[in-house]
Amino acid sequence: MAKDKKVLVVGGGGRCHAIVDALSRSPQVAKIWCAPGNAGIAAQAECVPLKDTDVQGLLSFAQKEGIDLTVVGPEAALSVGVVDAFRAAGLKIFGHTQAATRIESSKEFAKILMDKYDIPTAGYRSFDDFQAALDYVNARPFPAVLKYDGLAAGKGVVIAADAAEAEAALRSMLLDEAFGKGRVVVEDFLTGPEFSFMAFVDGERVYPMPLSQDHKRAFDGDKGPNTGGMGAYTGLPFIMEEDRAFAQKAILEATAKAMVAEGCPLSGVLYGGLMKTPDGIKVIEFNARFGDPETEVVLPLLESDIYDIFEAVATGRKASEPVWRNAVTLGVVLASKGYPGSYEKGAEILGTEQVDAKIYHMGTKRDGDRLLTNGGRVMMVVAEGKNARAAREKVYAEIAKIHCDNLFHRRDIAHWALDGKILDGKALAASIKDELRDRVGKLEVKYGRKPSLAVIIVGNNPASQVYVRNKVKSAIYVGMNSRLITMAEDTSEEALLKMIDSLNRDPEVDGILVQLPLPKQIDEARVIDAIAQEKDVDGFHPLNVADLWLGRKCTVPCTPKGIVRLIDESGLDLTGKTAVVVGRSNIVGKPVAKLLLDRNATVIVAHSRTKDLKRITLQADVLVVAVGKVNVVTGDMVKPGAVVIDVGMNRDAEGKLCGDVDYVTARLNASWITPVPGGVGPMTIAMLMENTVECFLARIDPQ
Ligand code: AMP
Ligand code: GLY
Repeated sequence: MAKDKKVLVVGGGGRCHAIVDALSRSPQVAKIWCAPGNAGIAAQAECVPLKDTDVQGLLSFAQKEGIDLTVVGPEAALSVGVVDAFRAAGLKIFGHTQAATRIESSKEFAKILMDKYDIPTAGYRSFDDFQAALDYVNARPFPAVLKYDGLAAGKGVVIAADAAEAEAALRSMLLDEAFGKGRVVVEDFLTGPEFSFMAFVDGERVYPMPLSQDHKRAFDGDKGPNTGGMGAYTGLPFIMEEDRAFAQKAILEATAKAMVAEGCPLSGVLYGGLMKTPDGIKVIEFNARFGDPETEVVLPLLESDIYDIFEAVATGRKASEPVWRNAVTLGVVLASKGYPGSYEKGAEILGTEQVDAKIYHMGTKRDGDRLLTNGGRVMMVVAEGKNARAAREKVYAEIAKIHCDNLFHRRDIAHWALDGKILDGKALAASIKDELRDRVGKLEVKYGRKPSLAVIIVGNNPASQVYVRNKVKSAIYVGMNSRLITMAEDTSEEALLKMIDSLNRDPEVDGILVQLPLPKQIDEARVIDAIAQEKDVDGFHPLNVADLWLGRKCTVPCTPKGIVRLIDESGLDLTGKTAVVVGRSNIVGKPVAKLLLDRNATVIVAHSRTKDLKRITLQADVLVVAVGKVNVVTGDMVKPGAVVIDVGMNRDAEGKLCGDVDYVTARLNASWITPVPGGVGPMTIAMLMENTVECFLARIDPQ
C-alpha cells in the first residue's frame, strides 16, 4: 500500500487532535493538514489558518493542495454545508450533508424521526408559543426537560426543577430568543446512567465504536456547572452486552435506515447520547459527529486503518469491520481555573514532555519554546490499562508530572465504574459517636452526672454476645456509664422482669436495653412491655411505636432512625420521591415507612414475596430492604440512580457475610448504596447512643 494520501481535517479541539493522531497511524497517509488545528496538532499536521466554517476557503485549499480526503470534526462546519459544497465540487469528504446534520441541529427533527420509526426515546411535545409551553409544563410533574430546537453550543437544554425555573428558561428561549428564533421541545424526564455510543455510518451500514462515558459537570461527585466534558473512559461495566446489542440494532441501525428512508442518508459519525433507564435504553440526544471528549478515549483503541474507514464511508464502499483493542482507556481534562465561567489564558504549562500517555490539546498555544494555556479546556491526558482501575492509576500518575499554576481537573473520572458511591455507615456512625462524646463531656459538666445505659443479655447466643459487646464498647467510647448484666440461658421470665423493674426504678439508669432474641421460655413481647417507656432506648416499646405513628415526641427506634440518617447522607431530598420498603417488621420496616412518610416521600411497603416485586422496586427512588434473606433484590430490580439501603445481614451458602441486596449488580444502578456488611449495623449502635443521651436529657431536664 502506497503511503501517498493527503488528508485535510477540519476543526481544532481535542477531538480533532485524536482524529489527526489516528490518521497519523495510517499506513496510507503521507501528510495531514488541519484547519485551523492547534498547538498540539501542529506536531502531527500542518495547521492551516482557516476557520472551520469557511466553506469556500476550505474548498479552495483542498483543490489547490490536491487533498485526497477531507474529514470534518465540528457540527458547525457540517451545519453550514461544507460536505455538500465539497461533494458538489467532486471532492471526497467524510461527514454528513446539511440535511443529514439535522439529526443534531434540530431537536424536533430528531424527535419526529424517532417517533415515526419507533426508536426508543423520551416522550415529548414541541412549542413555539410561550404561554402554551408554560401551561403544558405546569400541568406535568417536575423536573421538566426543556430543549431549544437548534444548535446552542450545549447550552440549549434546561432541566427545570420547578415552575419558576421552567418559566425563566421558556422566557429566555421563546420570548427573549437567547439562541435565536426557534421552537422548544418539552420532554419527559428520564433517569439512569448516561453513556455514549458512536458509530461510523454510511447509509444503512453501521460500524460501531466502543462505548464510552463523558463527565459533564465541572467538579468531583458530578457537582458544579455543566462543561464541554471533564473526562471520559471506555469499558462501561453497567452496560451489558445485551444492552449494547439492543442499542446498536434498535437505535443506531434503525436510525441509519430511517435517515435513508427520509432521503437524507448519513455519511459520517452518528453519536447516540443514550441512557439506561428502568424501561430500557433510550436516546437522550443524537449528534452528527464525533463526541468530545469521548473521541479522545475511543480512537486510541482503533487498530484498523482509520483512513480506510473514512474513505469507505465518504465513497459509499463497504469497509472491512474495524478492529478495536480489548483494553480500557481513561482520559482526564485539565481545564483553566474558573472554567466554565471566566478564566485567564497564558499560564505556562511544564512537564508535558515527561508524560508517558497520550496528550490531546484542546486549548493551548506556543510562545517560542513555551507551552501556554489558551482556552477553558486546555488538554486531555489519556492512559490505557487492562481495566479502569489500572487506567485510572496510570492517568493520575502521569498528570502529576504536569505543572501549571492555572489548571484544575477532576479526580474521580470513571467513578461510575469504580466507586459506586458508597454510603459508608461505619464512617458516619464514627463521626456521630465523636459528636456524642463531645456532648456527653459537656452534659457531665452541666448536670454533674453522665448518661448511663444498662444492657441485659440472657444466655450465650454468640451473635448476641458480639452485638452486646459492641454496644457496651460504644457506650464507653462515648463516655457514658454502662452496666452489662449477664443472665444465664435458663433464666426465668419472672427473674428477667424483676431485673427490668429494678432498673426502671433506679434513678441512675437512663436507658435499658435487652438484647434480642431471648431464650424460648421468655415471651419477648412481655419483656419489651416491661421496660419503662422513657428508658426504652431501642424504641421497641409499644407506646414508643404508637407515639411514633401518632407523630408525638418519642424515642425513635434506632435502626429506622439510622436508616433515615444514611439516606440523608446521600443528599437526596425525599419530598415527592417514591420510597419502597421491602420487609414489614414492627422494628424496622414499618417504622422506616413512617419516618419516610414524615419526610414527604410516597411510601410503598412490600412483602418480600410480593408477586413481581421487581415492578414495585423499580419505582423506588429510595429502596430499603429489610428482609433477612440473600438476594431479595438484584441489580435489575434497582431503578438507575436510586439510593439503596440494605439492612440485611445474612450468610450465603459459603458462609460469607452478605446482605439482602446483591451488592455487585445493584451498585451499578444505584447512585448510593450501603456496602455489606457494615452499612446499617454501626448506625444502629450510634443511634442507640443518641437515644440514651436523649432519654437522659428528658429525665434530668424535662421541660
Ligand atoms: P443534551 O444536550 O440533549 O445531551 O442534554 C444535556 C443533558 O441533559 C443530558 O446529558 C442529560 O443529562 C440531560 N437530559 C436531556 N434530556 C433528558 C431527559 N429527557 N431526561 C433526563 N435528563 C435529560
Ligand atoms: N460529549 C458530548 C458531546 O460531544 O456532545
